[in-house]
Amino acid sequence: MISPNTIQQILSRIDILDVVGGFVKLKRRGANYLGLCPFHNEKSPSFTVSPAKEIYKCFGCGKSGNTISFIMEHEKYSYVDALKWLANKYGIEIEETFATNEQREQQQTADSLYIINSFAQQFFSNTLFDTEEGQDIGLSYLKERGFREEIIRKFQIGYSPEQRDAFTREALAKQFNKDLLIKTGLVTNRNDQLMDNYRGRVIFPVHNHSGKVLGFGARILKTNDKAPKYINTPENEIYVKSKILYGSWFARQAIDKADECLLVEGYTDVVSLHQAGIENVVASGGTSLTQDQLRLIRKYSNNLTIVYDGDAAGIKAALRGLDMALEEGLNVKLVLIPDKEDPDSYVNKVGANNFREFIQKNKKDFVLFQLEVALRDAAGDSVKKADVVNQVAETISKINKAEDFTKQQDYIRQCSEILKIDEAGLHALVNKFIRDKIATQERALPAIEAKQIEENSSKAEATNYDDATFNLLFKDELQEREFARVLLEHGNKPGNEGQPIADYIFNEIIDESLFDNPEIIKLITVYKKAFYEHDSAKTEKSFFIYHPDTSLSTLAVSLLNFPYEESEHWKKEFNQSTGYQKKLFEKSYEDFMRTITIEQDKSLLNYLKIGEDKTHEEIESAVNYFKLRKIKRMLLENQVDMEKPHTPAEFETLHKTHEHLKSLEREIVQKAGTVIIK
Ligand code: CTP
Ligand code: MN
Repeated sequence: MISPNTIQQILSRIDILDVVGGFVKLKRRGANYLGLCPFHNEKSPSFTVSPAKEIYKCFGCGKSGNTISFIMEHEKYSYVDALKWLANKYGIEIEETFATNEQREQQQTADSLYIINSFAQQFFSNTLFDTEEGQDIGLSYLKERGFREEIIRKFQIGYSPEQRDAFTREALAKQFNKDLLIKTGLVTNRNDQLMDNYRGRVIFPVHNHSGKVLGFGARILKTNDKAPKYINTPENEIYVKSKILYGSWFARQAIDKADECLLVEGYTDVVSLHQAGIENVVASGGTSLTQDQLRLIRKYSNNLTIVYDGDAAGIKAALRGLDMALEEGLNVKLVLIPDKEDPDSYVNKVGANNFREFIQKNKKDFVLFQLEVALRDAAGDSVKKADVVNQVAETISKINKAEDFTKQQDYIRQCSEILKIDEAGLHALVNKFIRDKIATQERALPAIEAKQIEENSSKAEATNYDDATFNLLFKDELQEREFARVLLEHGNKPGNEGQPIADYIFNEIIDESLFDNPEIIKLITVYKKAFYEHDSAKTEKSFFIYHPDTSLSTLAVSLLNFPYEESEHWKKEFNQSTGYQKKLFEKSYEDFMRTITIEQDKSLLNYLKIGEDKTHEEIESAVNYFKLRKIKRMLLENQVDMEKPHTPAEFETLHKTHEHLKSLEREIVQKAGTVIIK
């Protein structure tokens, strides 16, 4: 885990213009910066960055967030990886902390596994080169296949003898822990006897990106055996198959130099191509590519060339990774090896030069290849062709990076030609897929709101409220949001007596339990707690924008977004507000009566004489709305009460209450009319 101190340092150094500007060309427009959105296709810029708020929003596709979420989204990083990326950018050293003993133990186990693996690798190498069995069986097999000694040594390939416990005995003599030995997969426990797991096999060590041995692939030598061809290291603290690319340690520099990564399926393909001087190659290990593997590739190059067997299974396996690879921003090309060969056998057959030439000549663009395959399948069937159009539009929509903008345009042009359809139509379809995807991704917050509206409506139904009341409840949502926004925006500013504005708000006015939206209540509660614990850093806007609880950071970002969508609703509601004479449900209105007096508004005005900015107006209007809302609720509740049978004295009290509330309401509405509402 990255320590809180490091996170704090990173957050304090973040400059959203610097970070986003590294990916999007931004131009100044007033207080904000504008550019072409990296998340959807556009010709005129609607992607806006606010350096003051440290947030971005695209008015075209609706995507918004903070600097960290930008990196997460754009670079497809996890939260932690995004922090690491930023730390690296700003030269901040990452301090790791172990939150739990469990994590500490895990780290210790990992360290031990590396040590055992390193020992085992040396044991297998020595056995291959220095023992009779190793030379006669292992080495002669490898040489027969055409592997030369230097490449065998480079890849640290070894041999495990037939003997049942050759390695186990050496390892135990070294005092290695039995459980850890079993964890590495090198040793198994059979009937309480520890024995070797890879007997009579050639051993391919699997290295991580810094050359440490993560595990092994052990290939059988005998043919016609019922045993599996390869035995691989089981998943453990360091061997996580989905994050491993075989050969990456040996290939990284060559990939960098060629700016291209070749992807093959097997260990022997990697080794043979290296031997042929083609070193920019890694293997997936025979399963379909994972997102983590694609991210590893993308660290080295954006150009991925998949070199698979040309049979149906090979093509299928290759196509499976396509959309994901595009999403990762990779340019994907495909080469199919002919004649039932694999890269290893083919390079041995035709030689290094011919192999290179073959790759260059037969590289197919992956998107176009997929389109051709699909069109061949559809052959004249117009319904199927419609599916193909949708499919290709969806595929193209996955290329959602700013720097790939022209690539996407090219695809749209080429595919519309191949499909013989209108280019603009395909363009629109691609954009639809992009919008759909963003809408799905950003459904989290709206989902909460939708739930709230639903709850409110069932509340309304249960109490038989009419439409007007329902509207009131519904619109409260927007008021609550605006209230939270004002608190975030201004809470820290000093009022007249140097006391922060939040103090005034909390002391005199706000009882957050009156709010409906649980997210807003959470935000206000968190704010209030930090505020009264005098933890002022935790009442900063940026603290909420970067809050580790994503429901809070999403809310904060959406609250601090550029246009105040709330404003128009507010204005309307204000104009209608005197019309409410409805029923409502709130019970404890006597409490409200005590807190709501017009005198307080005078003190508010005195309190907030702070400069020329809009702070004062915004707070006053937010507070007024809040009061108005309470009064409306009380009025409605009172009304409900009045419809029940009462003694004349009781009725008199209710009536007076009603009159008092009405006059309060009028005053607030009048005053609000003089306030500029944003
Ligand atoms: N594989 C595996 N377990 C198996 C078979 C295959 O893990 N039982 C993985 C290995 O990583 C292997 C890759 O899938 O390298 C490709 O399989 P295959 O083409 O069968 O093996 P090759 O690497 O080509 O090995 P060889 O050339 O020795 O047949
Ligand atoms: Mn092979």
